[in-house]
Amino acid sequence: MIITIDGPSGTGKSTVAKGVAKRLGFLFFDTGAMYRSLAWKLTEQNISLTDEAAIQGLLDRFQYDIQTTREGEKHYFVGGVDVTSQIRTQEISLLASQVSSLPFVRKALVKIQRSFGHRVNAVFEGRDMGTVVFPDAELKIFLTAKPEVRAERRYRELLLKFPDLADSLSKEQILSEIEERDHNDRTRAVSPLRQAADALLIDTSELTSEEVIGRIADAKKKICGRKPFDPMKFSYALVYHSVRVFFKLFYRLRICGLSHFQKGAAIIAANHASFFDPPVISISCPEEVHFLARESLFRIPLLGRLIRILNSHPVARDSSDASTFRQLIQLLGQGEKVILFPEGKRSKDGDLQPLEKGLSFLVYKARCRIQPVYVAGAREAWPRGRKFPHLFGRISCVFGSPIEWEEFETLEKRVAMEKITERTEQAIRSLKHWFEEGARGDPP
Ligand code: DC
Repeated sequence: MIITIDGPSGTGKSTVAKGVAKRLGFLFFDTGAMYRSLAWKLTEQNISLTDEAAIQGLLDRFQYDIQTTREGEKHYFVGGVDVTSQIRTQEISLLASQVSSLPFVRKALVKIQRSFGHRVNAVFEGRDMGTVVFPDAELKIFLTAKPEVRAERRYRELLLKFPDLADSLSKEQILSEIEERDHNDRTRAVSPLRQAADALLIDTSELTSEEVIGRIADAKKKICGRKPFDPMKFSYALVYHSVRVFFKLFYRLRICGLSHFQKGAAIIAANHASFFDPPVISISCPEEVHFLARESLFRIPLLGRLIRILNSHPVARDSSDASTFRQLIQLLGQGEKVILFPEGKRSKDGDLQPLEKGLSFLVYKARCRIQPVYVAGAREAWPRGRKFPHLFGRISCVFGSPIEWEEFETLEKRVAMEKITERTEQAIRSLKHWFEEGARGDPP
């Protein structure tokens, strides 16, 4: 799913776009950084704005790369050089604005931007995302704010960055520059700044960034509500709803963070402390999912039959065998979701055990999304070592922000696999923490 966020500067676009991506677990692309990076390259190579042949030559060889740090900060690279801070100077801002009005430059960069948007969940921030780059985006946002408010924001931003300039900064001057830039952006010949007809307009003048992010997340929820998940098979739906009623009645099942659940292939990676975990997760998902279960479970009366209908696949005790792996890759390749317990076996004390390599290997091979899940209360309801569960209890299933494959795409295999394990473990732990701290608001 693509969400576009356009609008003039000073409307809080970057903060909002980053916040939306974080809240929804989407990737985030700041397309202005791309124009800025190109501008940086022009200055580095001493190329004049009028030398179109040289700029075209540069575009033909333009090596642009984005990397995300462990803390989630973006770093921009041009030909291997980290230009993240250098592209934010006044000089580069001005040059980026000029270079972005050249039609052949826009054509080349739009092509790259579209390639980043292929089969991902992402928020794209810019000026022409909803009108030109992604005219078919599922959700388009256009931010505005009163010029005086934007000038005030810019004034405060500059004061913070350059406190020495306090005496020379004039709000009136900033306001007139903003009005002039607005006029230029809106009237330029190529891709002028304008609201797409189907974009949601949000005036941020009187809103905090958290409020704007909330409105966009709500709009996304409504859209997802309009796009139903694939219908379940009759037998699956029958068992699904019966088991759901059972868990609701006896274990007061609570499902949190369902807005994080998205269509398409994913590995649902969860903590594991009870035989109840697979059915609880299955019936908490709004569409059919698959899971692996030990062969011996299929021999338990009733449970065995039910889990078979719920798309479970028997595996031998050693679940790391090649045929299981192939089966999982095949399911993911067909766009299915598979529940996996990366700890390997059930935890005795409920604490998350170190994750085994299977998950990272599978994600690396299938290049798929990871949907982290935390199940609470299942161990108390049916602990290890007990033949039958307690009849009453309280179970919760918490869905967290998905982890996209693109986070690991550019990493070397060994590093990628380590990172996949680390990110998943961290995600499940933070869901546990969120739950234990009172489960307020949306899960992380
Ligand atoms: O958002 P920003 O200030 O970092 O953008 C830098 C420049 O690039 C700005 O002058 C507008 C231009 N730009 C554009 O024309 N189209 C985009 N999609 C993004 C930015």
